[in-house]
Amino acid sequence: MAVNKINPFPTTGYIGKEYFCDRETELTTLKSLVKNGVNTTLISPRRLGKSALIHRLFEELETTKSFYCIYTDIYATQSVKDFTECLSQMILRQIPEQKSIGNRFLDLLKAFHPVISYDPLSGQPEISLEFTENKAVEKTLASIFHFLDSQNKPILIAIDEFQQIANYPETNTESILRSHIQRLKNVHFIFSGSNKHMMVELFNSAKRPFFSSTRMLSLPVIDKDIYSSFIHDKFKDGGREIQPEAVQFILDWTRSHTYYTQTICNLVYASPLKRIKEEDVKNICDSFLASQQAMYIQYRRLLSPVQWQLLIAIAKEGSVSQPQSKYFLEKYNIGTPSNSKRALDALLTKEMIYQEDDLESSRYQVYDVFLSRWLERTF
Ligand SMILES: Nc1ncnc2c1ncn2[C@@H]1O[C@H](COP(=O)(O)OP(=O)(O)OP(=O)(O)O)[C@@H](O)[C@H]1O
Ligand SMILES: [Mg+2]
Repeated sequence: MAVNKINPFPTTGYIGKEYFCDRETELTTLKSLVKNGVNTTLISPRRLGKSALIHRLFEELETTKSFYCIYTDIYATQSVKDFTECLSQMILRQIPEQKSIGNRFLDLLKAFHPVISYDPLSGQPEISLEFTENKAVEKTLASIFHFLDSQNKPILIAIDEFQQIANYPETNTESILRSHIQRLKNVHFIFSGSNKHMMVELFNSAKRPFFSSTRMLSLPVIDKDIYSSFIHDKFKDGGREIQPEAVQFILDWTRSHTYYTQTICNLVYASPLKRIKEEDVKNICDSFLASQQAMYIQYRRLLSPVQWQLLIAIAKEGSVSQPQSKYFLEKYNIGTPSNSKRALDALLTKEMIYQEDDLESSRYQVYDVFLSRWLERTF
């Protein structure tokens, strides 16, 4: 059997469905929504696999050539102008000039006097648009959407980190976008984001323009049994053997959270070991945490003493549902319930902890699983 040369556990980006575990249900749902013209909002905690799932969906749609797919990540944009530039740039990059649609898009952009340069390394086009007034930005955006809507093939645009639009200085961004989007017949959207609070506010608040305009899809962690067989198989394909207890340990230790699981699997795979035991994985986890320690210590300076204490307490408990209870406050010497509440809110805002809600209660966990494991063992 041919032995895999690349590490089959990527920790950034998407490298193809062979290295992508499961998400079959979500993929089927997304395909059906897209084909039926329903726009989707995709939400999950950070690093659980939203962007990778979008790329997986694109790969699928591109093989059937049924859609033009355009992916944009607007995390770095700070205004409607940036958004318009970012969208234009991604259209140009993903619908190449050789195709007539790409050519016609370039002609359309030329009317707005763009400065187009090419990245010397990747050769990818970069666009900068100059506008003298705000109305001109809106007109450009309207032309772009109109152009996309009049193509002979449907278009799917995924806008990743969509919550960013709530930070733009223009107060009417949402209504501008919403008014364009609701008129489009041929262009469908996936809006994705990790800031649950902001995403839910954007799409589920009756006062906001996007209210009830999309279907919500929450991404859960990957099923443990499925992830476990996937890990097993990838080691096997590489001519290696990993014991079931070792895989179990990885999934427990990383809470099956995709990025953290991928990181540990990547490290284990990178080691020269051929037959991997639980003890080997534990050693790799230990040395990984040791290598991160200098960075973790810095967090202490960024937090108040109560916030730090609360963070340690939550890490030690793993998951906390009653952070104001007398038992919890006394056990970890946190002070009064109102102290704890204030620190909890601050840690949530800083995205140091994550709040998971179910019907009955909320639970809190340290957001970064590795930091959580380090705090748990160090204090
Ligand atoms: N189903 C999967 N199988 C294997 N690896 C995956 C899967 N989903 C995601 N990954 C990997 O996990 C890492 C995190 O995924 P991704 O960047 O898609 O998460 P995200 O939810 O978009 O994160 P963020 O909120 O930070 O943008 C990436 O390295 C990706 O390759
Ligand atoms: Mg992402």
